[in-house]
Amino acid sequence: MGKRLTSIVEWVDQRFPLTSNWKAHLTEYYAPKNFNFWYYFGSLAMLVLVNQLLTGIFLTMYYKPDASMAFASVEYIMRDVDFGWLIRYMHSTGASMFFVVVYLHMFRGMLYGSYRKPRELLWLIGSGIFFVLMMLAFTGYILPWGQMSYWGAMVIINMIMAVPVIGEPLATLILGDYTLSDAALNRFFAYHVVTLPVLLVALVIVHVIALHEVGSNNPDGIEIKTNRDPKTNIPVDGIPFHPYYTVKDIFGVVVFLILFCGIIFFAPEMGGYFLEYNNFVPANTLQTPDHIAPVWYFTPYYSMLRAATVNFLWIDAKLWGIILMGGSVAIICLLPWLDRSPVKSIRYKGPYFKTALTLFVISVFVLGWLGTKTPTPLYTLLAQIFTVVYFAFFILMPWYSKIDKCKPEPKRVTG
Ligand code: HEM
Repeated sequence: MGKRLTSIVEWVDQRFPLTSNWKAHLTEYYAPKNFNFWYYFGSLAMLVLVNQLLTGIFLTMYYKPDASMAFASVEYIMRDVDFGWLIRYMHSTGASMFFVVVYLHMFRGMLYGSYRKPRELLWLIGSGIFFVLMMLAFTGYILPWGQMSYWGAMVIINMIMAVPVIGEPLATLILGDYTLSDAALNRFFAYHVVTLPVLLVALVIVHVIALHEVGSNNPDGIEIKTNRDPKTNIPVDGIPFHPYYTVKDIFGVVVFLILFCGIIFFAPEMGGYFLEYNNFVPANTLQTPDHIAPVWYFTPYYSMLRAATVNFLWIDAKLWGIILMGGSVAIICLLPWLDRSPVKSIRYKGPYFKTALTLFVISVFVLGWLGTKTPTPLYTLLAQIFTVVYFAFFILMPWYSKIDKCKPEPKRVTG
């Protein structure tokens, strides 16, 4: 480092813990040396977060949160604003890619038991992030005020209203009106551009602080902190995050950006999955579209909402749907306490857990696909079956994870 730079850094260090933080979180943060493909998605989630924040700022400069102007302002961005189309496609593609990346990131946690002790709080913070991300995507989708924005939001508002006692006052509070209107659009704009992004960024910072407190898990699911070099006190299976993983992550970023640009330039609507065709039609409060389906990342939950068709006990079918939909997300938070396996990683888990995880993944895909379809009696039956499979994965976990025949964990990471 040049002399001048050293003295600047010293000057800053006397006033702000720059070097100590740089060391604690990068050059002296020892991460397990066996990170694999699945470990790209945390840093990619950060990249997409930055993309969403930056492109969002530019969209906000031209977007009009007014029910009579919102749709036209988005068209204006697409046609008249210099590079407006690029900024909008970066933001809309970014939203879908955020979910791709976060779903893979969460799945990695499930593969390697990253939610187990001592990372339970890290998992809970991650679940909080996931919830805020869903709220962000939902509020953002309303803003273009197209047919799907309006009617998709209507489904969710009606759902909130159907909750006994608190439903109606809560919906009025969220909307700032008794129905989905200009006032509600204004509120959703405020949630989408201020409240939720601030919350998300704060949670991501807390997430990384919590991770660096307990240290990273790894594909073997063993704790590298328990085996340290007696002389240096450095974990024998650890390597400094910088430069080793910064370089690895840059490779992931390059591959991701190639894919991201490919989508933006060649298939920004992704056959109606990233941007639905009905949303290129302005919202019409008098005409419900033939087929209402949310964007792909919400379709598994939407399927569960529709799977409830019978009144049971004192609860009607609609409320059961809401309970199933809410429960399907909430139950993810409980994973640290449901898994009773003596080992963390799928590498050493037994056939029961492997089968259960495979069935869970199949159920998510099938439910996701069903959520894009108009319901028929067969589709509804399938949705019911796979909703049971989805919940069985979690509810039966304390049992099958305990009796499973696991392999012994190695003492050192295997690579
Ligand atoms: C905006 C979204 C998110 C960002 C930016 C983010 C960021 C990160 C980063 C940078 C890491 C360390 C690198 C890595 O392990 O890949 C990490 C680890 C982790 N994250 Fe996230 N995360 C997000 C969402 C979530 C969600 C939704 C969950 C779970 C519900 C979650 C659970 C975890 C866990 C358990 C770890 C430790 C993994 C291990 O050490 O094996 N994260 N996260």
